[in-house]
Amino acid sequence: SAVSNANANTAGANAGKEEEGQEKDRDVTLPNVTGGGGAEEAKRREDEEAAERASTAKAAAATAAALRTAVVSVPETCDLYRGSWVYDEVNAPVYKETHCEFLTEQVTCMRNGRRDDSYQKWRWQPTDCDLPRFDARLLLERLRNKRLMFVGDSLNRNQWESMVCLVQSVIPKGHKTLTKFVNNGSSNVFYAHDYNATVEFYWAPFLVESNSDNPKVHSVPDRVIQWHSIAKHAKNWVSVDYLVFNTYIWWLSALDMKVLYGYGDRKKGSFDEGATEYEEVDRPVAYSEVLKTWAKWVDRNIDPNSTTVFFMGMSPNHITPEAWGNEGGIKCAMETQPIANRSATLDVGTDWRLYAGAQDVLKTFRRVPVHFVDITALSELRKDAHTSVHTLRQGKLLTPEQQANPKTYADCIHWCLPGLPDTWNQFLYARIVSSAS
Ligand SMILES: *[C@@H]1O[C@H](CO)[C@@H](O)[C@H](O)[C@H]1NC(C)=O
Ligand SMILES: *[C@@H]1O[C@H](CO)[C@@H](O)[C@H](O)[C@H]1NC(C)=O
Ligand SMILES: *[C@@H]1O[C@H](CO)[C@@H](O)[C@H](O)[C@H]1NC(C)=O
Ligand SMILES: *[C@@H]1O[C@H](CO)[C@@H](O)[C@H](O)[C@H]1NC(C)=O
Repeated sequence: SAVSNANANTAGANAGKEEEGQEKDRDVTLPNVTGGGGAEEAKRREDEEAAERASTAKAAAATAAALRTAVVSVPETCDLYRGSWVYDEVNAPVYKETHCEFLTEQVTCMRNGRRDDSYQKWRWQPTDCDLPRFDARLLLERLRNKRLMFVGDSLNRNQWESMVCLVQSVIPKGHKTLTKFVNNGSSNVFYAHDYNATVEFYWAPFLVESNSDNPKVHSVPDRVIQWHSIAKHAKNWVSVDYLVFNTYIWWLSALDMKVLYGYGDRKKGSFDEGATEYEEVDRPVAYSEVLKTWAKWVDRNIDPNSTTVFFMGMSPNHITPEAWGNEGGIKCAMETQPIANRSATLDVGTDWRLYAGAQDVLKTFRRVPVHFVDITALSELRKDAHTSVHTLRQGKLLTPEQQANPKTYADCIHWCLPGLPDTWNQFLYARIVSSAS
């Protein structure tokens, strides 16, 4: 992989050199401006500017061409998810909190009063290969005239925000737009004008239809799903080029999942018809059934030649400090270091039954390959990376009093940015840029 990384970098470097060369030529051949006067000088300046524009455009085209053909190779056989966290102030974070105007207040932990920033400086090092260095221009070339869409819950939105920040740094002001839709389709769309590329987030916390599908208003006392109904959401996913799915956190609110009566059979009622009666089903059973509904849709509707599908593993919580030997701790509050010793018995409360269910369903895909992004175990080590008390609650920044009360207010589910979700996106990046376009 080191060799192929070098190739990709060389392609970029050569394009850069070409640009330098042209600059030099221009300096040499330009007329001496001080000698001229009046109209002649104006004309000369105009010519000069035109030449500069042409040269810049040519250099940009050369860079783009080099990036389009650059292939970063990550061996299929390398398990990217086996490795360790390495403290690396040089290469992490990939972007700065203050440099990404698109970050929401929910995740800007430093601005919200967090003092330590070491959580930003850990880099994931796979044991058997290297993760390719993130190159926003290379990814944007891959996304040219394409759509990348994250579908799922607020953790996937967390990851979407990270992806927007990862790519936006190389796009000049005025050439990028973020649009939020409230009641229809994809709720958040980042658009890179010059690439005609989008990075989108679509809210569907259970993937299938549920009574929590409104991206803004979904605080409902009983979460109820309709486990065989997916079409209403899925029509928004058709012909998207890269789809990244997740669903997990909302399954944890109760031991049993509430399923619309009749197991979602349309004849017995749907949310649209005001149906409210439900049955309670064991969580892993319901989870598998939902993933089967989703898998069936993917298998029937995705053209594997034009669409790449990812399924994100579960994002873990850190609510029980005894699990990592911090007996006096309060949730993830005050945690500033990852869990250093990986013990086989580490139990932060992840429901691995759902992980197993997802593995079983993913095995059933025949026509469409789905890339499973196995982030759970490596993220379990990152007790230091949550937003904790440096975040919002019901749209408002926590007050100093609330911040002093982590037992009630610490969010040990979502993650600061820059931070852990940047690494998740580096896994997507590795797969996207290492496959032939
Ligand atoms: C822009 O991107 C969209 C969505 O990916 C695509 O359908 C459309 O053809 C693209 N436009 C051009 C001019 O290529
Ligand atoms: C949502 O609605 C807006 C205007 O109401 C429209 O411009 C946009 O295309 C819609 N988005 C989707 C994904 O349907
Ligand atoms: C995908 O491409 C291959 C080879 O080009 C072709 O044989 C196959 O029919 C295509 N599949 C679909 C679903 O279009
Ligand atoms: C290692 O982790 C366990 C919990 O899994 C904890 O009890 C123990 O104190 C830790 N040891 C060190 C040296 O940090």
